[in-house]
Amino acid sequence: MKVLRTVTEIRQVLERPRIFGTVGLVPTMGALHAGHVALIKAARRECDTVVASVFVNPTQFGDKADLDAYPRDEANDARIAAEAGVDYLFVPALEEIYQPGDATWVEIEGAAVGLEGKSRPGHFRGVATVCLKLFLIVAPRLAFFGQKDAQQVAVVTQMVHDLKVDLQIRVVPTVRDRDGLALSSRNARLSPEERQRALAIPRALGAGIAAARDGRDPVEAARALLGGVDVDYVSVVQLSGHPTLAVAARVGRTRLIDNVRLDDPQTHPTGPADTQEAPRGQ
Ligand code: PAJ
Repeated sequence: MKVLRTVTEIRQVLERPRIFGTVGLVPTMGALHAGHVALIKAARRECDTVVASVFVNPTQFGDKADLDAYPRDEANDARIAAEAGVDYLFVPALEEIYQPGDATWVEIEGAAVGLEGKSRPGHFRGVATVCLKLFLIVAPRLAFFGQKDAQQVAVVTQMVHDLKVDLQIRVVPTVRDRDGLALSSRNARLSPEERQRALAIPRALGAGIAAARDGRDPVEAARALLGGVDVDYVSVVQLSGHPTLAVAARVGRTRLIDNVRLDDPQTHPTGPADTQEAPRGQ
């Protein structure tokens, strides 16, 4: 695996792979875990050349303290990325992506309205802008995103469609720990007691699925199990054309999000179908 840091370098190494094969991109903010690894492996299966990016994108953080606290460990990320099968790890410095005087932003309506868009004003503007920059730098045929951030998938898909970006988005199912908690870089901040309380989230999603199957209200069923956490929202929304039960909640100082598609029984958060163990050391 090669680590590249400049736009010029990555464009240059990808010139030939783009002509002779399929280039896949996995955008990340680092702190790689088994969720990211699942994206890289999906890319590895479908693409001749796999590029992953590690860039903690400041413009998608509303809160400076949250940005400063974001875990950064490039050596560990490089090890995990190489083991998972990345060919080129793109790790740009801030100035490679944003320069003083930059004045162009991607604003998305539709999918970006509500849920995270409402709770984190400006978040999707930052996500969309950095994703478009990465798409233009890497020019992949396929880009891989996680169902864990279902609204992000919907927003990026909307942008790719509206701006006629020449690539396809692939969505990878949420990877969960054995206890059902969706893997997230933020889980590391939970105390053991908070982690126990956080398990209410996958349980609530499971209850929501069961309720929807029985013709009851999934939001009510989910909410009933979320007493131990500070709920931001519990909603059923159409995301990428699928009815999705989405939850955001604070556990202590940590804000967690999770979701399940109500039209896909495979997504049961505590069922065996998508339960995987985190790799060693995670
Ligand atoms: P990050 O949080 O690092 O996530 C990178 C990708 O990994 C996203 O597509 C996310 O949905 C996926 N992912 C995270 N946890 C997952 C899990 N448990 N199972 C499956 N996939 C998971 O999302 C971002 O970074 C940024 O917003 C980014 C798209 C890189 C733009 O800055």
